[in-house]
Amino acid sequence: MAEVLTRTPIHLLPQDVAERIAAGEVIERPVSVVKELVENALDAGSHEIRVEIRGGGLRLIRVTDDGYGIPEDELERACARHTTSKISTLEDLSRLHTLGFRGEALASITAVSELTLLSRPIESTNPGEESAAGLLTLRGGEVTQRSRRARLHGTTVSVRDLFYNVPARLKFMRGARTETNHILQLMRRYAVGYPAIRFNLTIEEAVALQTGGAGNLATTLAELYQLPLAEMLHPVSASSEHYTLHGYVGNRALAQSSRQHIMLFVNGRWVQARPLQDALEAGYRGLLPKGKHPLLVFYLDLPPGDLDVNIHPAKTEVKLLHEAEVAAALTQAVKSVLERSPALPSSSPFPGPELVYQRRLPGPRRRGLHVADSAEGYKAESAPPGAAEILATLRPLAQLQQAVILAEAPDGSLYLVDQHRAHERVIYEHLAQQTCRGTG
Ligand SMILES: Nc1ncnc2c1ncn2[C@@H]1O[C@H](COP(=O)(O)OP(=O)(O)OP(=O)(O)O)[C@@H](O)[C@H]1O
Ligand SMILES: [Mg+2]
Repeated sequence: MAEVLTRTPIHLLPQDVAERIAAGEVIERPVSVVKELVENALDAGSHEIRVEIRGGGLRLIRVTDDGYGIPEDELERACARHTTSKISTLEDLSRLHTLGFRGEALASITAVSELTLLSRPIESTNPGEESAAGLLTLRGGEVTQRSRRARLHGTTVSVRDLFYNVPARLKFMRGARTETNHILQLMRRYAVGYPAIRFNLTIEEAVALQTGGAGNLATTLAELYQLPLAEMLHPVSASSEHYTLHGYVGNRALAQSSRQHIMLFVNGRWVQARPLQDALEAGYRGLLPKGKHPLLVFYLDLPPGDLDVNIHPAKTEVKLLHEAEVAAALTQAVKSVLERSPALPSSSPFPGPELVYQRRLPGPRRRGLHVADSAEGYKAESAPPGAAEILATLRPLAQLQQAVILAEAPDGSLYLVDQHRAHERVIYEHLAQQTCRGTG
C-alpha cells in the first residue's frame, strides 16, 4: 500500500511457503496484467501511476510509477516464479500490508508476452535527477536484452504482444473495445480506492482517465464521472475494536442499474467477497427499486491478522475473522444513509411536452454512471409535488454537453432539464397565450 516505503530484497520463497499460496491462472486477459502491474506500483509507494494501452492491451500495456524501484541486480529475480520482497514466511501472510505476496505476477506475465522492466531504485543518488536505470527484456520467459536507460526513480513495465505464444487464449479475447472497457473500469476502481494517488490512463494515446490525487474521494468521483457529486454523497463512518469503516453512499437519485458502482476496499484491496456483497445489498433492499443499486464506496480497515486473502489467485476474495459483525456494520451503514436520503418525487404526469424528467445522462456508457432514469418504485416520503411547483424550486447546478441542465430540488433530488424541449415549451406557452388573446 502507498504508505509503505521500505523494501526488502527480492528473494525466492521457501518451498513450503510457495506451496501454501493460492496459485493458478493469474493472467487471463489484458486487464489481469494491468491489475498486477498497478498493484505492484501501489505496493512500491508510488504517488503517480500512468497506464498506457494499445490494441486493447494486447499490443501494449505500459505502467509507469514513481515508487521505490528495483535495484538492477534484482530485475531478473523479480521476473522469476515465487520470488518476492513482500513476504518471507507463512506467518507474514497474517501481517500483510501489501497487495502482492505470491511472487507470481511478473513471472506469469513474462511467460506469455514480451516484458521490459526499466527501474531505478529510490536509494540511488539524487532522486530528483535522471540517471542510469537497469533495463531487462524477457520474451516467453527468456531474457532477450539487458541494458541501461536514463530515468527518474521508479519503474516502467512494458508488456507487448500479450498471448503471442498462447493462440488458444487469443481466440477468446473479445476484441480491443471490450478489453479496453474492462481496463477502464479497473482503473476507475483504483482511482476511487486511492484518491491520494494521481492516476492517468491513455488509450491509443488519448487520455481516458485522469485524477489529481487530491486525497478527497468526492473530488476524485467528480473527476471520474464529471458530475457535481459532492452534494449527492453522504459520508459514513463506524468502528469497533475489530474494524474501522468509512466511505460514502450516494443518495437515491444516484441509484444505478448495475452493481459496478458498489466498491468495497478491505485494507486497500478491492474485494468481491460474497457475504460482504450480500450485507451491502441487505442495506438497500426495500429502499431502492428492484434492480437498482446505490453508488457506494466503503473502505474497511481490519487488523491484517483478521483477514485471509490467500484464498484465490486473483486475490479479490477474502475471509474475515469477525465476518458477522462487519457484515452487520455494512448493512447498517448503507441503510442509515438511504433511509435519510430524500425519496424522488413519484412520476406524476407533466403537462404538455415532457419538460422535466430523469433519465440517463448523455454518454453514460462512456462515463459509466447515470442518474436514476425513473422515479417509479421509490418510496415517496411525502405527497408528490406538482410539476409547476418542482420547476419553481429547481436550482441549476451545471449545463451538460450544452444540451441538458442539471438542477437540484430543495429535497436533494436531481433533475435534468432538456433545453431543447424547454425551449419548445416556452414557444408552446407563448402561442397558447396568443391564441387565447386572439379568441378572447
Ligand atoms: N513497480 C514496482 N516497483 C518496485 N518493485 C516492484 C515493482 N514491480 C515488481 N516489483 C518487485 O518485484 C517483485 C515481484 O513482483 P510480482 O508482482 O511478480 O510479485 P509480488 O508482487 O511479490 O506478488 P504477487 O504475485 O502476489 O503480485 C515484487 O515483490 C517487488 O519486489
Ligand atoms: Mg505483484
